[in-house]
Amino acid sequence: MADIIKNVVIIGASGNIGASIFKALVASNKFTVSVLTRPESTHIYAGDIKILQSDYSEVSLVEAFQGQDAVVSALGAAGLADEIKIIDACVKARVKRFIPSEYGSNSKNAKATALIPFFGLKAQINARLEAQEANGLTWTGIAAGPMFDWGINMGLVGFNIHTKEALIFDGGDRRFSTSNLSQLGNAIVAILSKPTATVNQYLYIDSFTASQNEILAALESTTGEKWTVTKSTTEAAVTEGQALFAKGDFSGLLLLLKANFLGEGYGSDFTKDAKLSNEILGLPSQDLTSTVRALVKGETI
Ligand SMILES: NC(=O)c1ccc[n+]([C@@H]2O[C@H](COP(=O)([O-])OP(=O)(O)OC[C@H]3O[C@@H](n4cnc5c(N)ncnc54)[C@H](OP(=O)(O)O)[C@@H]3O)[C@@H](O)[C@H]2O)c1
Repeated sequence: MADIIKNVVIIGASGNIGASIFKALVASNKFTVSVLTRPESTHIYAGDIKILQSDYSEVSLVEAFQGQDAVVSALGAAGLADEIKIIDACVKARVKRFIPSEYGSNSKNAKATALIPFFGLKAQINARLEAQEANGLTWTGIAAGPMFDWGINMGLVGFNIHTKEALIFDGGDRRFSTSNLSQLGNAIVAILSKPTATVNQYLYIDSFTASQNEILAALESTTGEKWTVTKSTTEAAVTEGQALFAKGDFSGLLLLLKANFLGEGYGSDFTKDAKLSNEILGLPSQDLTSTVRALVKGETI
């Protein structure tokens, strides 16, 4: 394959995760970055960013992707089903590389994809990408675990830095891999800079891999305060999460995500259940201590 990627489109650049990927792509100064948005999008971008509007019809997608080397999707759950159509449009427009909207749990783990409906969709999207290899599209998927710095504002993996509360599951000694937003951005820049080394692969990255008890100890020592600890089990989180989610209560989804990231058998310790690609991507070291120190000081990492 031609191994230079220059023109990159990002979809979902205004989202929770897409905003930091967009920032990393632009800051790298390696690519000409354009943003694909829906007509109803209201987000304002800097004047020098090319905006490609699409109603996600095949015609408009193929037109938008002309001349683009790579498409990075950061679509959220509401738009994820459109990714299959987007992948097919990439093939028609002869885009070289597609990065699907993954960025979290291990989509190669059957227990994980069965737990949450849109994780199942991610597995279908990965299957479509593999099928489209024969038609010239290449892809790279990224599992990064829960976004640690983003999630600590709302208890994603049991810690809330604002309330200093911790919810510890199953005794708290199970380790899981987790990434800061900037590490995900680093990974995407590296993948697009090394397209041959990363071709048609599902890669695992982290900032660090640690247990809830190790994270709690780092938070308590850095804040100099005892946090309020509640104990529970991931089994209870699954039962309660499924019941709430079935009633349309999205707090159930947060419980299911916790179980998925912290429970047994979901493939969430990438040092044990997979193989980290940090080294091949040349990712910087971002350990637990430096992450917690930065977050407690209110700095970004
Ligand atoms: N590992 C983690 O901790 C973690 C946390 C959160 C998310 N994630 C993953 O990261 C990916 C992105 O999630 P996110 O939370 O960042 O997504 P999001 O903020 O909910 O949405 C991202 C973007 O999708 C676009 N979009 C397209 N169709 C849409 C529709 N019908 N309704 C609303 N938005 C639509 C919007 O961009 P435009 O307005 O520009 O069109 C929106 O800004 C997902 O795969 C998610 O599972 C991982």
